Amino acid sequence: MPEASFLFSQYGRVVDLLPEIVLILDDENRILDANKTAADELGVVVRPSHPKYVFDILPEDERNIFRNLLPFTDQLNLETKFRKRDGSVIDVTGIVRILHSGQTKYWVLVMRDVTEEKRKELDLLRFSNVIHNTINPIQISSANGTMVYVNPAFEKVTGYSNTELIGKNPNILNSRKHSKEFWSGVWKHIISGKVWVGRIENQRKDGSPFFTELVISPIVDLQGKIVGYLGAHRDITEQIILEQRLVRSQRMESIGTLAAGIAHEVGNPLTAISSLVQVIQRTSKDEFAKEKLELINSQVNRITRIIRELVDFSRPSTHVVKPTNINRIVKEALNIVQYGKKVKDITFSLDLDDQLPEIAAVPDQIVQVFINILMNAVDSLDERRGSISVHSRKNDHAIEIIVHDTGKGIESSALEKIFEPFYTTKTTGQGTGLGLWVSYGIVKSFGGDVFVESIPEKGSTFTVSFPRKGV
Ligand SMILES: Nc1ncnc2c1ncn2[C@@H]1O[C@H](COP(=O)(O)OP(=O)(O)OP(=O)(O)O)[C@@H](O)[C@H]1O
Ligand SMILES: [Mg+2]
Repeated sequence: MPEASFLFSQYGRVVDLLPEIVLILDDENRILDANKTAADELGVVVRPSHPKYVFDILPEDERNIFRNLLPFTDQLNLETKFRKRDGSVIDVTGIVRILHSGQTKYWVLVMRDVTEEKRKELDLLRFSNVIHNTINPIQISSANGTMVYVNPAFEKVTGYSNTELIGKNPNILNSRKHSKEFWSGVWKHIISGKVWVGRIENQRKDGSPFFTELVISPIVDLQGKIVGYLGAHRDITEQIILEQRLVRSQRMESIGTLAAGIAHEVGNPLTAISSLVQVIQRTSKDEFAKEKLELINSQVNRITRIIRELVDFSRPSTHVVKPTNINRIVKEALNIVQYGKKVKDITFSLDLDDQLPEIAAVPDQIVQVFINILMNAVDSLDERRGSISVHSRKNDHAIEIIVHDTGKGIESSALEKIFEPFYTTKTTGQGTGLGLWVSYGIVKSFGGDVFVESIPEKGSTFTVSFPRKGV
């Protein structure tokens, strides 16, 4: 066996000072020499009487690399694993070079222990995979607040793509629902290194709102300096909408009770006035008085009509509930609405699921619901050109009819009010503000619900849903 420690001895054992593992192999993979680090870390002690092979310090599955590569390579960068003295395995990376000495070839391995680096890399990889694939929308901002990373869930919920967001300030999602003071409070909190938690209303690219529970935590470097911020959202839009609907349905119930009471109290005196007017009309000879009485009569009729609607809302229906084909109802309502002269510049489109099961309802009342919703859609176009589409569909629990218009839309602050009685934005004579209230009452009485989404200046979408099993 050749004596190879001369490779080192010329300069003394300089290689013993290196933190790297240095090994010299011959062409039979025998370790001819090893530096101090190799001895300390791997327990390689070179004794000519007990030759050691490189395979002795390689885990099983790494051995082939040496068998296959070394004999044919003069130099290469190598990444492999060594088995330590205590049996544990370390990751190493480094270079392999060939040395010629006369006819003999030697291989020099200079390898560095990168186990810790690899572990960190893996941790980081795992961490970034979790962040990337989680269903929670996540954004990472730099210290000055511009976004440097957003995950796919964030893109999905905001409607913006990665490229539209990176480099931008997160206030691109600002719904303007929170005051400047609110946001400066948030900033003050996180700049001081603290974690901020709160509920916020954001705005999607299309202008619609989404609600999230947001946790913003500062990212600090080893010196404790803030280098960025991690914003993790939990989308609670669904929950907020359900809460709002519940509040609305409770409010409607109490308004309904109040309205029924008023209608009852006002109804009796009104009937009395109406009969008195008729009596005087019949007996009076005075033309002037007769004419004025006629006016009183028509005003009383108007009040009576409103009162009747109030009563209708709060009293259980006396009409007969029967299996109702909702598509037929929708078409009937559309026919009635299309007769109006305001509709000449409006394109109507229908996309009805012809496999819809029937619902249990009073057909005349449901027609009224869709007439009200369609008339509102027509009004929202304000004699401008536009379109109204009606779409019906089903899922496991419900049948839904969606009426979409490209009209003037509804401010988000008014969205809750439109279902209240007498809320109207129309001039007197154009609307009483009872249409949606009555419709809501009818749909509720058959176990259904009505909800609305709207973007001002773009249009509104009313969704009427009925339970599949009827009432
Ligand atoms: N499709 C829509 N687009 C825009 N605004 C709408 C739409 N539907 C309803 N609204 C708003 O909601 C309000 C209330 O509607 P609702 O049908 O209850 O009353 P109205 O249409 O004003 O009067 P009416 O009692 O004659 O129906 C409307 O005045 C309007 O401001
Ligand atoms: Mg209306």
